[in-house]
Amino acid sequence: MSDLRLLVVVASTRPGRVALPVSQWFVDAAKAHGGFQVSVADLAEENLPLLDEPHHPRLSRYEHEHTRRWSEKVGAADAIVFVIPEYNFTLGAVAKNAIDYLHHEWRYKAAGVVSYGGVSAGTRSAMALHAAVFALNLFTIAQQVNIPFVTSRMVDGRFDPSETTEAAATVLLDELHRVAGALKPLRG
Ligand SMILES: Cc1cc2nc3c(=O)[nH]c(=O)nc-3n(C[C@H](O)[C@H](O)[C@H](O)COP(=O)(O)O)c2cc1C
Repeated sequence: MSDLRLLVVVASTRPGRVALPVSQWFVDAAKAHGGFQVSVADLAEENLPLLDEPHHPRLSRYEHEHTRRWSEKVGAADAIVFVIPEYNFTLGAVAKNAIDYLHHEWRYKAAGVVSYGGVSAGTRSAMALHAAVFALNLFTIAQQVNIPFVTSRMVDGRFDPSETTEAAATVLLDELHRVAGALKPLRG
């Protein structure tokens, strides 16, 4: 059943970021789900500067190796899950910058969100991401994992999900598989 390729994007670059253990948990859940070949792009490792390409990304005329590497990873995916914090009630700049670098690579793909934060569970960030990808024909699904009070779920540096969070991950992955599969003919 692992017929679709899922890219999990770790979208915080802060030292000590919660994004890493949350992503590690989600990657394990995605592998156990069985519907996807799972790979990871850690934006701390991608190390993309603030957008430094001279041409509009729809031209795919990339001048920098970091862009070509990022393009290849996103281009190879059928579906993307962004693991995102909420900063100041919205999406962090790191995620927005990584999205803006590319164009065709996002087109006709399905996207899911794993967000986290305090009382808001990162939901405002998730909705900001939805708006940030709208112009790209990257289709966000409504089924999200939203984790409230994320720091209270950290045990010895690992993320310990609640039953609700685990169940939400399964629902997200099921729907993502369905939508990414349905969009496949459009991707050619
Ligand atoms: C600049 C900044 C702004 C933040 N703003 C919010 C916020 O608006 N809502 C929220 O729930 N948490 C907010 N937080 C707390 C984050 O949820 C918490 O620091 C989380 O660990 C950030 O994710 P990260 O560790 O993966 O970077 C903020 C943290 C930082 C550093």
